[in-house]
Amino acid sequence: MLKKIIFGILILLIVIIGGFVVFVQLNWNKTYDIPYPELQVSTDPEIIERGKYLVHGPAHCSNCHVGSVAEMIAADAGENVPLKGGVIFPLGPVGTLYTKNLTPDPTTGIGRYSDAEVFRMMRHAVKPDGTATLSVLMPFWDMADEDLVAVVSYLRSMEPVSNDVQQNEWTFMGKAVRIIASSFQPIENPKPYPSAPPMAATIELGEYLSRYVANCVGCHTNRDQMTFEAIGPEYGGGMEFEPFPELHLMVGEDPELWLRTPNITPSPNSSLSKFKNVEEWKERFRKGRQIKISPMHWGPFSRMTDEDLEALYLYLTSLEPSDYDAGELMFKK
Ligand code: HEC
Ligand code: HEC
Repeated sequence: MLKKIIFGILILLIVIIGGFVVFVQLNWNKTYDIPYPELQVSTDPEIIERGKYLVHGPAHCSNCHVGSVAEMIAADAGENVPLKGGVIFPLGPVGTLYTKNLTPDPTTGIGRYSDAEVFRMMRHAVKPDGTATLSVLMPFWDMADEDLVAVVSYLRSMEPVSNDVQQNEWTFMGKAVRIIASSFQPIENPKPYPSAPPMAATIELGEYLSRYVANCVGCHTNRDQMTFEAIGPEYGGGMEFEPFPELHLMVGEDPELWLRTPNITPSPNSSLSKFKNVEEWKERFRKGRQIKISPMHWGPFSRMTDEDLEALYLYLTSLEPSDYDAGELMFKK
């Protein structure tokens, strides 16, 4: 009798697990039917110039969409590296992504895609092939139409570079996470700003940049290492970054060193409160990268306008202070 019960339970378990595996294999890369934004690129030099500023400055596309770790370092230092994509973007237990070729090359870059497909990627986190991406990487969904247009118009104006980027690799766990976690679902109902806040030191511009352009909130909020969903208060810090051995070795740093984001709310011991005024804040940003292995895009941020930097300071200092303990900045596991 007991044997029969155990046997029955075993069969049941096999069916459940088998069913789950089949379900994941069938659904992990599903495509979404999300409508295309009705936007058009422009050849107006002023619009392209604004796009260039965003791509190499606050929106920092230029730090990720390069071909190698060496190019990442060069781009951060201000070199105009072609955005041909391909650099590895490790996601721990979930898998490995590769950044994509954003040059207008017709066979390997965004020359393959319609403007509508590129706009949909930015506004809904749905890739040109219809699958959803990890939205927290590129949180541009609420950027105003005019800024999306500026970015894509600039991308279209770049020199095409042929570079066939490697396919992403997902672990089984990663495939399951893509089905379950909210951070891997499309942004179905974005609420884009009706227009980009004017470039002036205002809280409104600071919030716009921080959330939907520069992604300060994406990194300075503690997130689960597997699903990337928030597990701490916004801007409280604590998100952990696994070592990027190739980068660490290249800059002569310990390849086992992890980093954590600091708290940037206006609480007494936060990283924000170290700055006594907006002048000190701007000075810090103008200096750029101090910690060579920091994942923060210090180079592009160091090239932001005074107004953008001042707006960020105004916004962050206006937040509710959080005494969240982000933990040690650098650590080993
Ligand atoms: C933090 C790094 C990072 C930043 C910043 C970033 N991207 Fe990406 N981007 C990626 C990665 C990684 C992928 C691949 C995602 C995937 O395959 O799910 C990607 C994919 C894309 C794709 C899809 C292309 C394709 O062939 O499927 C587009 C379009 C894109 N990014 C545009 C941009 C633009 C425009 C910006 C700046 C406004 C930007 N990205 C900023 C990392 C980044
Ligand atoms: C890709 C992740 C990432 C993004 C995006 C990011 N940060 Fe950071 N930030 C970090 C990490 C990690 C550190 C700690 C290492 C360091 O100081 O470079 C840090 C450090 C800081 C510090 C402390 C600097 C110091 O010298 O003490 C401030 C202030 C800060 N970030 C503000 C911002 C603001 C404002 C934004 C948006 C414009 C932003 N961060 C975007 C990851 C990020």
